[in-house]
Amino acid sequence: MVALALDSLTWPRRTARLAIRPATREDLRRVFAYRSREDVAHWMTHRPTDEDAFVEEHGTPERLPLTLVVERRSDGLLVGDLYLHGEDAWAQREVAERAAGVQAEIGYVLDPEHGGQGYATEAVTALVELALSPVPDGLGLRRVHAELFADNGPSARLLERVGLRLEGRGRQDSLHRDGRWLDGASYALLADEWAARPGAAAPLRRPGG
Ligand SMILES: CC(C)(COP(=O)(O)OP(=O)(O)OC[C@H]1O[C@@H](n2cnc3c(N)ncnc32)[C@H](O)[C@@H]1OP(=O)(O)O)[C@@H](O)C(=O)NCCC(=O)NCCS
Repeated sequence: MVALALDSLTWPRRTARLAIRPATREDLRRVFAYRSREDVAHWMTHRPTDEDAFVEEHGTPERLPLTLVVERRSDGLLVGDLYLHGEDAWAQREVAERAAGVQAEIGYVLDPEHGGQGYATEAVTALVELALSPVPDGLGLRRVHAELFADNGPSARLLERVGLRLEGRGRQDSLHRDGRWLDGASYALLADEWAARPGAAAPLRRPGG
């Protein structure tokens, strides 16, 4: 696990309708309420069933900084959570130092009571923005990726809306808790691609440049 410099950013990060900030231990009880639902947990790594155990597991000093919460600005309601896990890129040993902490895996969950309104799209766009934007506005990472069951249609469509690329599909490489071996899918995006996306702010020109 690579610690990301979240403290160097200004919180909350605001979008048109949402505010995103690092989670507190108190937030985890509200997060548990929707994550323990069968329809939410269906494609997730784990279906939590015990609220206290969930808070203990996710509230440690190592795990808590991996979770950001998403609040609706109009009423402050916590509507979802995001995951940002810093990683080293694979590298040959001679250059491994240059690959340390340069990328992150992202994840996202939206309370279905508030789904289908574009909140997840808005939140994940902001997550990618904060991960890939140069320091000091963002973390200056070079790449983000997401791993999912290929059959998780809402998640795949969300990633494609945000602008991530399908990079691979693993043939029956993932075991679902219902006993079936299912295809996995990997999506990713580079900082250069994010900066060059349609609608991105043009880079500042130096005088005379
Ligand atoms: C994946 C997940 C976060 C998507 O959340 P969501 O609420 O469906 O996402 P959005 O509201 O952004 O988009 C949903 C739909 O609303 C539409 N929408 C409505 N208003 C919108 C708006 N203002 N802006 C963008 N999209 C909007 C989208 O086009 C989208 O349509 P589609 O699914 O037919 O393509 C959600 O399904 C979830 O939490 N699933 C359970 C956990 C999970 O699987 N997490 C991912 C693990 S890999």
